[in-house]
Amino acid sequence: MDSIVIRGGAPLSGSIPIAGAKNACLTLMPATLLTDGPLTLTNAPRLSDIGTMTTLLQSLGAEVSALQGGKVLALSSHEISSMRADYDIVRKMRASILVLGPLLARYGHAEVSLPGGCAIGARPVDLHLRGLEALGAELELRDGYVHAKAPGGLKGAEFEFPLVSVGATENVLMAATLARGTTVLRNAAREPEIADLASCLNAMGAQIEGAGTDTITVQGVESLGGATHPVVVDRIELGTYMLAPAITGGEVECLGGRLDLVGAFAERLDAAGIGVETTERGLKVSRRNGRVSAVDVTTEPFPGFPTDLQAQMMALLCTAEGVSTLEETIFENRFMHAPELMRMGARIDVHGGTARVTGVERLKGAPVMATDLRASVSLILAALAAEGETVVRRVYHLDRGYESVEQKLGAVGATIERVAE
Ligand code: UD1
Repeated sequence: MDSIVIRGGAPLSGSIPIAGAKNACLTLMPATLLTDGPLTLTNAPRLSDIGTMTTLLQSLGAEVSALQGGKVLALSSHEISSMRADYDIVRKMRASILVLGPLLARYGHAEVSLPGGCAIGARPVDLHLRGLEALGAELELRDGYVHAKAPGGLKGAEFEFPLVSVGATENVLMAATLARGTTVLRNAAREPEIADLASCLNAMGAQIEGAGTDTITVQGVESLGGATHPVVVDRIELGTYMLAPAITGGEVECLGGRLDLVGAFAERLDAAGIGVETTERGLKVSRRNGRVSAVDVTTEPFPGFPTDLQAQMMALLCTAEGVSTLEETIFENRFMHAPELMRMGARIDVHGGTARVTGVERLKGAPVMATDLRASVSLILAALAAEGETVVRRVYHLDRGYESVEQKLGAVGATIERVAE
């Protein structure tokens, strides 16, 4: 198992290219199941989660080829041979549930394993299932699997999500493209990945309006065709690398970065004393002067502050002047990075969904353990600012969502290397 070793303290300067969004790619790939035609995704990120979705789609009979070193994915579902998404693959990645809507819509039946628990909270899939039921699916939970059928095909309907869910919105949206009649989804998630999915589906011939707002209207069509679609920039990778010069000092330009993808996050950076400037190539970030100021953060669905940047923001606030409060409202158990940051000298009190961080002048390097994807990168950010050496273990979490992290940070002056243990 690999570790990442970092020697902190140096300010960073230069530019970092931002990849295509993992979370967008993970919902665009299953869209292949909706059509006979070829789907080509450009600007795909090279990540182990994309490999897991590839394995899952191939297990159903889809063809998935990674071209140009994985930056382009060519997908085809003209010969789907299985309707069963097996537990062995689904348990590795929750986004696997996103094959359910498309399979059901195109083939009228599917069996998908329930994803099971997850380190950052219970994360049920009830909203996915209720949305599909509203479109006429008959569902049965048996042997750990969702057995779904829609004998006469799915039918358009009005459905209001009782809670905003990114994955459930994506699943039901994909299913609705092939349902008979009109579907109106209310209280839909507004994340940029949903607008990206809708734009790809529309390029495939779907008729979707309102994606990116809380009400999405879909006119079902008979069939969809192929398309070529560029994956939207990864706003979470963007926010993560925006924090690198914020935490170390220096100035980094995030290539491909867009303020509209990280508005609420950039506003909190500004309040903490970090400058963010739009350039022709992306976003340039620098610390304005002296120590960062403490700020309060509450995670919310888009356009609010993303839960996927909470751990990284906490790393920054560990060295801020004053006391910051971080409130996590999306996942109930998402402070597992706090005890690891405390091993590096951070002062953090966690009570339920709230963490109180008292900034310290300097963090100190230590051996730490990654507990989940975003937690692992928060430890890397903290290590960049810490005095001495930090060894981050269990970096397989990191590889799920960040491509070439050592190269990207190394290129802006960080002392960082991967070692095999
Ligand atoms: C997606 C992202 C993940 C991000 C999260 C919130 C992908 C692959 N993953 O996850 O990185 O952290 O959005 O921005 O895109 N919930 C239910 N029932 C459901 C579904 C969700 O109760 O059927 C709850 C969840 O437990 C959570 C909240 O709703 O508390 C939001 O989850 P959701 O938006 O669905 O997250 P994911 O789509 O799983």
